[in-house]
Amino acid sequence: MATKLFDQAKKNKADEFYTRLVDIEAEMRHYWEHFRGKVIFCNCDDPYESDFFKYFAMNFNSLGLKKLIATCYMGSPISNTQLSLFDHESENDKTTKSPHKIEITEVRDENGDGAVDLADVEYLLKNRKNALVRLDGDGDFRSPECIKLLDEADVVVTNPPFSLFREYIALLMEHKKTFIVIGNTNALTYKETFKQIKENALRTGYTNFNVGMYFFVPDYWEDFHKVENGRKLVRVSTSCWFTNLDVKRHKEYMTLYKRYSPIEYPHYDNYDAIEVSKVAEIPLGWEGAMGVPITFLDKYNPDQFEVIALGIVGSIEFSCEKKMEILKDGQPTGKYTVNAKGTLYRKYNPSIDTKPPAFKNAETGELYSSIYARVIIKRKGVDNEHCASRNSHSRNSGKLHRQCGRGCNRLQWNAEHSPRRGAKAGKQALKTAKCSAWNATVEKAAFEPLIVSES
Ligand SMILES: C[S@@+](CC[C@H](N)C(=O)[O-])C[C@H]1O[C@@H](n2cnc3c(N)ncnc32)[C@H](O)[C@@H]1O
Repeated sequence: MATKLFDQAKKNKADEFYTRLVDIEAEMRHYWEHFRGKVIFCNCDDPYESDFFKYFAMNFNSLGLKKLIATCYMGSPISNTQLSLFDHESENDKTTKSPHKIEITEVRDENGDGAVDLADVEYLLKNRKNALVRLDGDGDFRSPECIKLLDEADVVVTNPPFSLFREYIALLMEHKKTFIVIGNTNALTYKETFKQIKENALRTGYTNFNVGMYFFVPDYWEDFHKVENGRKLVRVSTSCWFTNLDVKRHKEYMTLYKRYSPIEYPHYDNYDAIEVSKVAEIPLGWEGAMGVPITFLDKYNPDQFEVIALGIVGSIEFSCEKKMEILKDGQPTGKYTVNAKGTLYRKYNPSIDTKPPAFKNAETGELYSSIYARVIIKRKGVDNEHCASRNSHSRNSGKLHRQCGRGCNRLQWNAEHSPRRGAKAGKQALKTAKCSAWNATVEKAAFEPLIVSES
C-alpha cells in the first residue's frame, strides 16, 4: 500500500502541495462576512495535517461558523503522521491512511488557558475523537458520502488535487456551491474554467497571483526550496486562488495611461486584434480587440472589459492560414507548421524586437514573431470610463472627486466629464495633471466631445 501511494504521489506531484496557514489567513480575511452562520467544508483535507482545517477550527467562534467539516482522502501520503486515530480499533486497523471525516459544531477553550487558539484545536483532535468518523469509502471528493457532505455545506474552502482540478470545479459548480480554492494559473486557460471566467461566474482571489506561494511537501521530496520549522517547502510561482465570491479587485477600474500607436501596438497577422504585451499598457484610444497576457485575468473587471476568447487555436478563428517554416534562434529548421503552431503571430520588426523571429512564411519569406498565452479582450464604454456615469457623481465637483477616488481636481474633472468646459480647460489642466489616466483622457477632451452616459 505504502509503495502504491508513494508512486501515485510521485506521479501527481502537484497534488501534494500542502498549504501554509499564513497564506490561508492572508486570503480568508477578505471573506469573513461570507462565513457567518455557515457550514464550511474542506473536502481534500486531513484534519490532522490541513491548515485549512486548523484555520477554521481556530477561528470557529470569531467567524461565527455553524459547522466545520473536513474529509481526508485515503491516499494522502502525509496523513496522520503526527497522531494515531481511532484508539478503540486494533493496532492493525489503525492505518495511517484511514479515510475519515471530522465534524465540529463548537470549539471551546479546551485546555482551559483562557483563550481559543491552535492549542485548543490540537487538544480537540487528540481528545474529542467522537468528532472523528471513519468513512465508508476512500474519501474521494466525488464519492457519494462526500457529495452528501458537499450538499450540506455552504462554502467549500481548500487546495484540491491539481490533477483533478477540472472535475473538482465542475462538481462545485454543478452543486451550486460557493467556494474559495487554490489552483494553478494554468487552469485559467482550461476551456471549462475560462468559460466561467468569461461569464463572470469565476474569478481569481485576493492574493496577487504573480507572487507565487510556498507549499509544504512530503518529507521524502528531494527537490525543495527551503525548510521551515523542519518541514520542506516548495515555491509554486503559478498558484492562485479561485472563487465565485465577489473580489474587490475585479470591480476596480484599471487606470489606462498609454495612448494607442500602431508602432507600439502591432496588429496580429492572423487575427483582427492588436498585441498588448503588458497588462499595464492597455491603450486608450483603441476600441477594437486586443491580445493581453493571461495575468490580465487577475485584474479583469467585467464592467471595464469584455473577454472574448483565448488567443489559441480552438478558442478563436484565425483569419488566415499560412504555411511557415519553424525557426530556432532565428535559423531555419526545415520543419513546417500552419498558423505558428496554432497561436497568434505578428510581423517581425527588427527595430523593436529583441528576440529573433520564430517563423518564416514558406511562400513569401516574411518573418514573424509568435505570441503565446494571450487573452483577447475589448474595452467596454469610452475613454473616460473610470468615471463613466455622470449620475454616479454629484454636480458638486468636490464631492465628485472624492467619489472618483483618484484625486482629480476641478480642472481635471471638467476636462474629463464636461465636453464644453473640458475643451477650454484641457490645455491648462494638462500642465498640472497628476492623474496619469486622466492625462490621456483630457487630451481627447480637448479635441472632441466626450460621450458621457446619462443613465
Ligand atoms: C494539493 S493537496 C492539498 C491538501 C490540503 N488541502 C492543503 O491545502 O494542505 C491535495 C490533497 O487532496 C488529496 N486528494 C487526492 N485525490 C483526492 C480525491 N480524489 N478526493 C479527495 N482528496 C484527494 C491528496 O491526498 C492531498 O491531501
